[in-house]
Amino acid sequence: MGQDRIKQLLGQAAAEAIKPLLTPETYIGVGTGSTANYFIDALSDLKLHFAGAVASSIVSAERLQAQQIQVVSLNESGPLGVYVDGADEIDPSFSMTKGGGGALTREKIVASAAAHFICIADQTKWVKRLGQFPLPIEVIPMSRSTVARQLVALGGTPVLRENFLTDNGNEILDVHDLEIDDPAALEAALNHLPGIVTNGLFALRPADQLLMDVDGQIQTYRVGQR
Ligand code: A5P
Repeated sequence: MGQDRIKQLLGQAAAEAIKPLLTPETYIGVGTGSTANYFIDALSDLKLHFAGAVASSIVSAERLQAQQIQVVSLNESGPLGVYVDGADEIDPSFSMTKGGGGALTREKIVASAAAHFICIADQTKWVKRLGQFPLPIEVIPMSRSTVARQLVALGGTPVLRENFLTDNGNEILDVHDLEIDDPAALEAALNHLPGIVTNGLFALRPADQLLMDVDGQIQTYRVGQR
């Protein structure tokens, strides 16, 4: 089965999984990326069962609106019933690396407002230890060089993402070669470097639930079950 079809099945399974969490007053958080896109497509059948969505990127907002799903800001929605998003890597504690699509800051904000985080990821994203995928870090442009030097001191090799600005008007450093022994500790340490807006480690608030394909079937896991 092709990768796109697996992502489509993941998106459809996530739409099914959120059904019990929905009320007509519920706002949901929606991620960004090729897998999240399939989730948005699958929401079209559910749109009468929830109030609306908060999007983690402009591109996801536009895709939601194209389905006639109401998109509101996080300030308008209040707490979210659930957040659904993909990942670039996910480990057995359901800590993730995210931001391959550059939406990490809004993703982390929207995820933080959700009662429940469902990660939809195909098998290629499963790792025993985070760090093969370069860690995306969103930086205020004036801080790029000083942050990069501090990342080198931490053992990383930062590479500026060329010709790319985030939805917030910032730049991304993709950091290779980091030894991620303790994802939550590194996430917290990076949060303290001035100039870093967000780092792509999602470990302090990991996913609660993982939907992943096994032999072409979508399985659901809680932490410790995979
Ligand atoms: C977007 O910034 C990312 O965090 C994506 O959620 C992540 O890169 C997964 O994207 P795909 O579903 O396209 O692999």
